[in-house]
Amino acid sequence: MVKTIEWTDGRVRMLDQTLLPREVKYLDCTDYHMVAEGIKKLCIRGAPAIGIAAAMGIALGAQQIRTGDFNEFMKGLEGVFNTLLSTRPTAVNIQWAVERIRKFLTERRHEPVDKLKAMLIEEANRVLNEDIEINRAIGEWGAQFIKDGDTVITHCNAGSLATGGYGTATGPIRVAIEQGKKIQVIADETRPVLQGCRLTAWELMQDNIPVTLITDNTAGAILRKGEINLAIVGTDRTVANGDVANKIGTYSLAVLCRENNVPFYVAAPLSSIDFSMPSGDLIPIEERGPEEVTHIFGRHIAPEGVKVRNLAFDVTPAKYITGIITEKGVFRPGDLHKLNEKGADLEKIMLKAKY
Ligand code: MRU
Repeated sequence: MVKTIEWTDGRVRMLDQTLLPREVKYLDCTDYHMVAEGIKKLCIRGAPAIGIAAAMGIALGAQQIRTGDFNEFMKGLEGVFNTLLSTRPTAVNIQWAVERIRKFLTERRHEPVDKLKAMLIEEANRVLNEDIEINRAIGEWGAQFIKDGDTVITHCNAGSLATGGYGTATGPIRVAIEQGKKIQVIADETRPVLQGCRLTAWELMQDNIPVTLITDNTAGAILRKGEINLAIVGTDRTVANGDVANKIGTYSLAVLCRENNVPFYVAAPLSSIDFSMPSGDLIPIEERGPEEVTHIFGRHIAPEGVKVRNLAFDVTPAKYITGIITEKGVFRPGDLHKLNEKGADLEKIMLKAKY
């Protein structure tokens, strides 16, 4: 499995996903502005991966702050936090990483600043390694819903490229295969940036996982033919009432699944769940430039001057979601908020596969 991101020799090295699958090339970021640019330009993308990039970007930014005073150090870091937070608004993971690091530092405010700088590098690596473990746990919980012989549809890329490794939506797929189940994956191509085509199809083929690529608008036809057993997608921000923001087109797929009685699962690490937001209507939706729609690989395909809307994400209301697969178990969207309540009996509300 290729590495999505790593801290190496005092730099943040990220796989430049804009070049895949034609070229496997790494981008070495020597300062936090480069990390922020890499996130903005989608060199690194996928909610957990940009959370990891943010943690590493903060560690990199911290090394550049020249002071021995904790308060001055934190003041300097605020600029780093804000630069990273301004890159992509929908995924909650950048905010999650900033809050985690802020708390980490506040709890260690009496340590010398030089020691804190070194500790931030360790903490960023911990964020990366924990993410891989979390994805494996999501895989273990989710695999029970995949039966031998099943075909799973997924949208965008919520695979190892979107995470520290292993993937969220691909976690259950990978575990099901490790369990010896013979399964197939259908990957939506995911217009306009083609994450399904360029990234999901590529990473699954690298690992010999049977995958078939379809255009986004083919999904309805093959769902209606009964060729798909379940859907598993990722999320950029899932909120307290169980509404899910994910790549544009997820909502359409969820509605099509409901129409055709196909279960629709969302793989959501806790780092992508925003318990403070009560409804999906409040999630900020990133709108990107028109070129992603009017051009394909630099070539103009639309009439010159046409008006474009390019929403990068949509919100799927909780009512279309069968279950949310987290590292703590699988839950009905309506029960999700209980994960944030002290003393909730999670075992009692967990969804289990019936067969
Ligand atoms: O614009 P992207 O490529 O960052 O969008 C990614 C997605 O929508 C993923 O499904 C989501 O971030 C979950 S990744 C585990």
